[in-house]
Amino acid sequence: MLASTDDFRAAMRRFATGVAIVTTAHDGRIHGFTVNAFASVSAEPPTVLICVNREATAHPLIARSQRFCVNILAVEQRALAERFAGGEPRSRFDGVAYRIGPSGSPVLDGTLAFVDCALTEELTASTHTIFLGQVLEAGHREGEPLGYFDRTYRDFALGRADEPHGDGA
Ligand SMILES: Cc1cc2nc3c(=O)[nH]c(=O)nc-3n(C[C@H](O)[C@H](O)[C@H](O)COP(=O)(O)O)c2cc1C
Repeated sequence: MLASTDDFRAAMRRFATGVAIVTTAHDGRIHGFTVNAFASVSAEPPTVLICVNREATAHPLIARSQRFCVNILAVEQRALAERFAGGEPRSRFDGVAYRIGPSGSPVLDGTLAFVDCALTEELTASTHTIFLGQVLEAGHREGEPLGYFDRTYRDFALGRADEPHGDGA
């Protein structure tokens, strides 16, 4: 017996995440798309994972190039998240400043952080592939993250959760 898809989706919507744009480059073509299925796996060696729908344009590009960069968005970059989550893939980079990182993937300007990766493992998981990557270069700056919760972009900069509240201290 499995949980219903509706119950599963409703539960997962209550897991708050950040938002990132995964970029890659293959055969002279750059591509990027919005993700929140991203996690740190280990610090030694520095390793992350992303879950990519097998139907996504990026899927064969990452599989072939063996390279990707995870660009972690700042709260003021909501418009970029929206742009890279749909529409015509070829115009997503129009007017967007970036440099090419050591993996060959675009590293977007103005993000909160990035991890530029070389693919190390691919795990097939039903409709998705889990791509594991070792981090060639990582960077960050001060700022606030773009959040995502219950299918809505959020500003999480509301204060720390570790301040004592009532009886909970
Ligand atoms: C907040 C948010 C998070 C997303 N996270 C993922 C993800 O982790 N993996 C994925 O494959 N698609 C994810 N998507 C969907 C892709 O961004 C969307 O399907 C996009 O159009 C990629 O496909 P394309 O490049 O083929 O257009 C997410 C979309 C949004 C709005």
